[in-house]
Amino acid sequence: MDIKTVPPAGGEGQDSLRGLALRALAATAWQDKLAGVRAITDAAVLDCAQVFAPPPALPGRPPLPELVAPSLVRQRSMATLEGRAALLHALAHIEFNAVNLALDIMWRFAGMPEAFYRDWLRVAREEAHHFDLLRRRLEALGYAYGDFPAHNGLWDMAQRTEANLLARLALVPRTLEARGLDASPQIRDKLAGAGDRESAAIVDIILADEIGHVAIGNFWYKRLCEQEGRDPIACYAELARRHGAPRLRGPFNLEARRAAGFDEAELAALQAG
Ligand SMILES: [Fe+2]
Ligand SMILES: [Fe+2]
Repeated sequence: MDIKTVPPAGGEGQDSLRGLALRALAATAWQDKLAGVRAITDAAVLDCAQVFAPPPALPGRPPLPELVAPSLVRQRSMATLEGRAALLHALAHIEFNAVNLALDIMWRFAGMPEAFYRDWLRVAREEAHHFDLLRRRLEALGYAYGDFPAHNGLWDMAQRTEANLLARLALVPRTLEARGLDASPQIRDKLAGAGDRESAAIVDIILADEIGHVAIGNFWYKRLCEQEGRDPIACYAELARRHGAPRLRGPFNLEARRAAGFDEAELAALQAG
């Protein structure tokens, strides 16, 4: 395989599909990040073997929101506008991180088939759309992304799995994004129950797309397990332990998880804890 190392700024490979993903990942302002995702066109040259030298500070993120420990992110009442805005802000921050995660898997892991990078480009575009829907809704309610503190749990998992694609697939799409499938119905009901049907409708759009993201994670995870001759369930348990995955608790959205490609043996293992 022809492996080339390309510097992150300027020079050969910068306008390639994976080079553009790295550039969008490094963008700090959300406006630049969204523009960076839009700039990755289907026509961009895709070199699956290219290896990039990572820039020092990833991911690019704006100075706000302030990042705090998860225990310091307060749950607020849905009865108040501020409470609903805080919830929408937390979701927007998850989507901002999700954009970064999709971009990161594209540039970081060389040597996968073309379809792998195209799948994650689709995910990056949909995550950018989710972020934008939530950001606009926040704005309509008189708030902006950055107005509330946020935590960095999603990106922490990206860092813990940066040297191992199988672990990345196991723990990001198949664990953290799948947890989003479980949480979405309750979040949607909370917002609808507070009379905020517009925000609830956004959560519905996101849930439908997220099933596709988890399905992409499952597809590539299982493909790699097969290539390496590993049992997907035993391998998952080992990776979850080694990389400190959160323990998942129900209620599980089994219907969404089935639609995302988890089989009955995996769902049984999940429910057995
Ligand atoms: Fe999303
Ligand atoms: Fe997603």
